[in-house]
Formats: sequence, structure tokens, C-alpha cells
Amino acid sequence: MRKIYIFDTTLRDGEQSPGVNLNMQEKVEIALQLEKLGIDRIEAGFPAASPGDLAGVNAVARAVKNASIIGLARSREQDIDAVREALQGAQDPCIHLFLATSPIHRKHKLRMEKQQVLESAEAAIRYAKKYFDKIEFSPEDAGRTELDFLCEVTAMAIRAGATVVNIPDTVGYLTPGEFGNIFKTLKENVPGIEKIQLSAHCHDDLGLATANALAAVMNGADQIEGTINGIGERAGNTALEEVAMALETRQEFFQAKTSLVLGEIARTSRLVSKLTGMVVPGNKAIVGANAFAHESGIHQDGMLKEKTTYEIMSPETIGLKESKLVLGKHSGRHAFREKLIDLGYDLTDEQVNAAFAKFKDLADKKKDVIDEDIRALIEEKLIKTPEVFVLDTIQLSYGNQSVPTATIRVTTIDGGSAEEAAVGNGSVDAIYKAIDKVTNEEVELADYSIKSVTHGKDALGEVHVVLRQGDYSVQGRGVSTDILEASARAYVDAVNRLIEKRKSPARSRDNVTLI
Ligand code: KIV
Ligand code: ZN
Repeated sequence: MRKIYIFDTTLRDGEQSPGVNLNMQEKVEIALQLEKLGIDRIEAGFPAASPGDLAGVNAVARAVKNASIIGLARSREQDIDAVREALQGAQDPCIHLFLATSPIHRKHKLRMEKQQVLESAEAAIRYAKKYFDKIEFSPEDAGRTELDFLCEVTAMAIRAGATVVNIPDTVGYLTPGEFGNIFKTLKENVPGIEKIQLSAHCHDDLGLATANALAAVMNGADQIEGTINGIGERAGNTALEEVAMALETRQEFFQAKTSLVLGEIARTSRLVSKLTGMVVPGNKAIVGANAFAHESGIHQDGMLKEKTTYEIMSPETIGLKESKLVLGKHSGRHAFREKLIDLGYDLTDEQVNAAFAKFKDLADKKKDVIDEDIRALIEEKLIKTPEVFVLDTIQLSYGNQSVPTATIRVTTIDGGSAEEAAVGNGSVDAIYKAIDKVTNEEVELADYSIKSVTHGKDALGEVHVVLRQGDYSVQGRGVSTDILEASARAYVDAVNRLIEKRKSPARSRDNVTLI
């Protein structure tokens, strides 16, 4: 079986999803989970975009031991230098250089002729070669580049010292037949192609990202790039869990496999969804809540008789286990600890104690505490932003014939406390206006979403918000059995992150484009 290398760009292309803004701790958390998933190569960010991106890539480079860490760079010396700095401390560093090659990009974006593109890319690869053994080069918008020119660019990249040439369908324009043909043509026509690895990077604008990636595999690609849950620019990237499970389930057909630890897929998907705030649709292949649910009577009957009638892969393969132990308010610390181990958490005694206190609070409000509740509690507790403001109390007066009024009390980092009231055109609006007053911050609520973590009237609600202030964009999360409290917690969390972000020299990179 041929090994297909998996290149994860959740922390770079994935982070380019609108509204997603991961802090350094979150990037490291995701990277460590990607390492557990067995990802071969992790693209941790775009260091030249901002000092914050550079610091994030560096933190990942120092934390991850068993995957190659990659930094993205335009074909410019200052970008390459930023990647050099960011990858200090990495066990297996690699630089990812790119330059657009398609006629549209050459004419309108770069204003360069073909020869200038070849020369600029070559100069960048040769400069990078002084510092890096491993260089990936991407002819951006390769999907819309003339095939003969793409062959020329690939040959140049190999001569200059690239070790991987990645073929991006940057705008998700191609069909599987067309994309596969690019790989076949490169393999058959480019001198020295056997010395390097060929990689596929697809976007999902026409819903073809996974199909195109698999067509690349069929035509000789050695590496697939993508993100967890398929997040990314516009409609997103190839969903890596889909590629991994397609190769696993149809091994005979593809004659290729990955070295991913498939049992970590569900956990990785959940973590990425939680930290990015990008909810996974119920019908999403592999990791959607309904991916293994059987609703119709005929299907249920078939499943009971023989699972393979309607199930081509088992939920256990991706790490979904049926829970045998349901916790409640009488459960003790021992059962709680066992449950954490069962769910795959490896926590210190101090962390277990903090989580146990939260669990007890929840068990007072909710009869059965199931696995999803516990994950929500743990994951909320583990990733902490320094808290300048801690939400203390919320008082709300609401009636459908009266103006909602909220009073918010917070304690502050210096041990003080403050209280403010505000009216709004709804309960959440009143709460948010009161928080603005009490924290003395002027922010714009750019996004608000709410989902229920579990089923039933006593389910935990999880709120995700995105706040903007000038150049800065931050997200916040809050979990509670009460959705108004969850809304307040998410907002205060975001305000704390905003204050933290303002303190660091890193600017938001919302205004940086990949030109
Ligand atoms: O889609 C794309 O072209 C990219 C490049 C930077 C590789 O993400
Ligand atoms: Zn991309």
C-alpha cells in the first residue's frame, strides 16, 4: 500500500475562515491534538502576517515533537526570514512558499509576465534553500494555470530545491477528472518529478474538494492537504477526516493509506469546532451528529439484523464510543475520574478537582450528566484566558410587554467589583449593553451563535460570540444550562481575550491579504 502523507492546514487556511481567530494557547491545543491524530505535517500559520501569527507558529513548533511543522511564506525574503524565526525550536521544520501562476492572477494581482513569475519563485526557493532542507512550493491557483506553464513552474521548483510541489485548486473550480489529469500530466512530463512529492490542496466552492483530493491520489499524489471539519477560506478546504475514512473504507480501490490514528478523529473534530466556534452540521460526512444515526424504520430494522446493511464504517473507528457510565448528582470523585480517563483526558489532580466542582454544580441542575456535558465542562475549563473580569451575577427583568433590563456585576482582577444596568431590545442585548458599561469597552458584536450541547430541556447551551474593536477581532465561548448566562459568559470571555490581545504587540491580521 502506498502511504499518503497528510498535511493539516487547520491552523492556517482553516484559521482564514471568517470570524475564526485562535489565540496562541488554542493553536497549541489543536496542534497537540493533531499530533495525537498522527498528522504528518502541520501548517501552523503565516508568520509574516503579524507578530501574533509568528508567536503562534513558534509556540506550536516548540510544543509538537512528532510532526513536521510548517510556516507559510510569500515568495519574498522578509516572509522567509519570518518563517525562519517562527520555526526556531521545531524538530522537523519546513517552509511553504507560494506564488500565483494563473493568467488571471498574473495579470490582475501580480502584474507579472510568466518569466517574472518563474524568476521570482526561483529566487525565493533558492533563498529559502540556504536555511531549509524541506521546502514546499505552491503555484497558487494552479487549477486555472495553463498546463504547459504549470509543468515549467514545477520543473523550475524541482531544480531550485523544492522537496514538495503542491497543486492548489485555490478557488475550488476544477472537477475530479480535470484535477486528476494535472497530476497525471506532471508525473508524465516533468523531468525530475520522481525526486519530489506531489501534493493536492483543494477548496470546496463547488462541493468537490474531497472528490478532487481523491482524484489526485488516484493519479499519483503523495500528499493531501486539508483541514479538520473542512473549515477554511470561503466554502472551506478538503475535510481531512473524509479523505482518511475514504482511504480506510475503500482501501482495495485506492491501494493507498494514511498513518492517521482514526480513533482520534471524533475528538479532534470536536476540539476544532469548539475552539473555532464553527459548528459541524448534523449531516456532515464522518463527524456530523447524524453521520451514524439511522432514522427510518426500514434502516433500523436492517441495522438490528446486520449492521453492514446500512453502515459502511463503524462509529467506533473514529472514536465514538457508547457510554456505559452515566453520571448524576450522587456520583463521586472516583467515578468522575474514571469517566475522564474513559473520555481520554489526562488531567492533573488540581484540574480534576476544579472540573469535579463544576460537575457537581451541573449535576444539581441536570439529572443525568452525559459524556457531551462533561466534555463541554472540561474543555471550557482547560483553556483559560487571563480573566480581567469574572462574571459574578446577572439580574434580568423581562416581559413581552416591557423593556428588558439587565444588571451585571463583575469582579475584577485587582479584587474589586463593579455593577451596571442597561436596557436593550431583547434580553441578550440588555445583558451585552450592561457588560459594555461595566467593562468600559466599546465593541461590536460581529457574530453570535448558540447550540445545545446535549438533548432535552435541561441540556447545556453553548454560546459562541465574535467581537470586533478596530483592528482586533476575538471570539468567546460560554456554557451553561441557562442560555442567557451562557451568552453573558461568552461575551465576558471575549472581552477578556480582547484585553489580552491588546496587551501583546500582535495586531489582528484581518487586514493582511495573501498577495
Ligand atoms: O488555496 C491556496 O492556494 C492556498 C495557498 C497559499 C497554497 O492556500
Ligand atoms: Zn488554500
